Amino acid sequence: MDLFEKLKKKAGPLGQYADDAYGYYMFPKLEGEISPEMTFRGKKMLNWSLNNYLGLANHPEVRAADTQAAADYGLAYPMGARMMSGNSSYHEQLDRELAAFEGKEDAVLLNYGYQGMVSTIDALVDRHDVIVYDAESHACIVDGVRLHMGKRFVFEHNDMASLEKQLQRATRLTQESGGAILVITEGVFGMTGAQGKLKEVVALKEQYNFRLFVDDAHGFGTMGKTGAGTGEEQGCQDGIDIYFGTFAKSMALIGGFIAADKEVVKFLRYNLRSQIYAKSVPMPIVIGAIKRLDLIRKHPEYRENLWTVVRALQSGLKAEGFDLGRTNSPVSPVIMHGTVAESTSVVHDLRENYQIFCSVVVYPVIPKGMILLRLIPTAVHTVEQAQITIEAFKEIREKLKNGLYNSEKVINMAEQN
Ligand SMILES: Cc1ncc(COP(=O)(O)O)c(C=O)c1O
Repeated sequence: MDLFEKLKKKAGPLGQYADDAYGYYMFPKLEGEISPEMTFRGKKMLNWSLNNYLGLANHPEVRAADTQAAADYGLAYPMGARMMSGNSSYHEQLDRELAAFEGKEDAVLLNYGYQGMVSTIDALVDRHDVIVYDAESHACIVDGVRLHMGKRFVFEHNDMASLEKQLQRATRLTQESGGAILVITEGVFGMTGAQGKLKEVVALKEQYNFRLFVDDAHGFGTMGKTGAGTGEEQGCQDGIDIYFGTFAKSMALIGGFIAADKEVVKFLRYNLRSQIYAKSVPMPIVIGAIKRLDLIRKHPEYRENLWTVVRALQSGLKAEGFDLGRTNSPVSPVIMHGTVAESTSVVHDLRENYQIFCSVVVYPVIPKGMILLRLIPTAVHTVEQAQITIEAFKEIREKLKNGLYNSEKVINMAEQN
């Protein structure tokens, strides 16, 4: 069979919707300055769909630093992989500053968060080692685990009894193989907003011999007193052996980093294939990250603003009887029930008639019959915008309950616009 013929027949779990969804539900174009108010198909939207947690994307000092760095260095510099010809004093400064921010001995930059996670998992373990990881792990963890040549055991999401069971299995196995155990989980799970039970995982180190690797993509900058992340929030940062943060969310940039003990970071510098065999992070990104980190350190009020909006939105929605699942982070999922078709109508109605733009998650990402509208508050949203959104959600819920979102009625709704 021809490969391309085969691909035509299996579009994939998301690609199956491509023809109907392109440009509206998938690959929508949000235009204008990055902010809570952006334009979608000519209409101004109240936008709850960007991980711009601290509002840095369009911060004037950030914009100025990015522009200046691009003017000074261009986007090419430095050329080559960091190990060969792509290192600079700025890269080393950023490594050091990130390590200090995380309370770790050292840190190493990653040119992309996703790839960096995959590559770090790949570098840390060999075929004698066992990986034990959370069942709801992000795709970058799943893909990293896929590269692992040894055993991998999955524990039920945030379930410490299940983790212990898998640790017992892993311990027996590694005692025979002479290998070691790596536990991988997340600081904040990005779909549900639930924090990983890091403190409880760390406590298990008293009974089991393992190292803990935490992907804190959503926790970096948002959680903890200083924004150092979910480990700081839960008072167990020292128990996290390997900390991953991305620049793609709170920092509103691209790239990421690993922070850990000096020896571990040194090992990673010489063994991370995604960094050794790929171009170094361009200078404007590095200088831009230094600027952002500086703002995060100097302006705790950005995080306070974020949490003011988070509390207004989440407690307001809960007071109106909405189900927000298990979130205990800024990620605000609103769980409703209906078909995939109804979910698209809900989103359409929200955009066209309420000018509210948010993401929707449906089956197969979540169980059949569930609709998850995912709201991401930021430091630059207002409490008033949260209230407007709660009122709109109340109306949407009523319409959904009354069966108003069957496709014909929705098309009529669209035509009225
Ligand atoms: C939990 C988690 N890990 C890793 C990543 C990947 O980060 P990046 O966007 O920097 O590649 C993301 C981003 O989507 C994420 O949510």
